[in-house]
Amino acid sequence: MNTKAFIFDLDGVIVDTAKYHYLAWQKIANELKIEFTHEHNELLKGVSRVRSLDIILELGKVEASQEDKDRWLVQKNEDYLSYLVDMDESEILPGVFPILKFLKENNQPIALGSASKNARPILEKTGLLSYFDAIVDGNDVTNAKPDPEVFLMAAKLLNTTPENSIVFEDSVAGIQAANIGNMTSIGIGEASTLHEAKYIFKDFTEIETSFIASLIK
Ligand code: BG6
Ligand code: MG
Repeated sequence: MNTKAFIFDLDGVIVDTAKYHYLAWQKIANELKIEFTHEHNELLKGVSRVRSLDIILELGKVEASQEDKDRWLVQKNEDYLSYLVDMDESEILPGVFPILKFLKENNQPIALGSASKNARPILEKTGLLSYFDAIVDGNDVTNAKPDPEVFLMAAKLLNTTPENSIVFEDSVAGIQAANIGNMTSIGIGEASTLHEAKYIFKDFTEIETSFIASLIK
């Protein structure tokens, strides 16, 4: 059995796609005349596409048919994908690559634990696919964060226990999922938003390799 496992969320942790999700949802919200602020957007981070639309409709107190919802979901994803067409390694968030490299050099297992159904193409475009020993994404899970399913599955694939798993997350729902799953949660972002995390860093440039080394021990 492996000792430790390092599980990374994707959107807003490895790549700055959170901004593209926001832009694509904003278009739908605008069309529906629903106010959709950055604060509202925090509620959508880490949450599945289907649930995100429901949250927006709830914010605007809009009731919609399944047919309309399906159409908006397709529209949102098409718009989102249009932002990813030219994506390459330059979109990897600062500080992420050195940490992945350090983990690999130290033979640590790495997994992806994301709600996104677009995770694999993003890892391919950014050249990071080969860094991941396991990938669990929105195509594999039935229960969305804050349910720990996605991270528990990743830990299992990496042949380790939840207690020995370390999760990097930018969303409140994801931090809660890691905590509920008895894993070590590391928040990437604002302390005011991610205060439930065991450790919080503004971004990966703030994480010293000595800190990672202390987690490996
Ligand atoms: C999460 C994002 O990683 O994936 C959410 O934080 C997004 O904003 C969710 O809605 C689903 O992503 P996708 O790519 O399947 O629409
Ligand atoms: Mg995220």
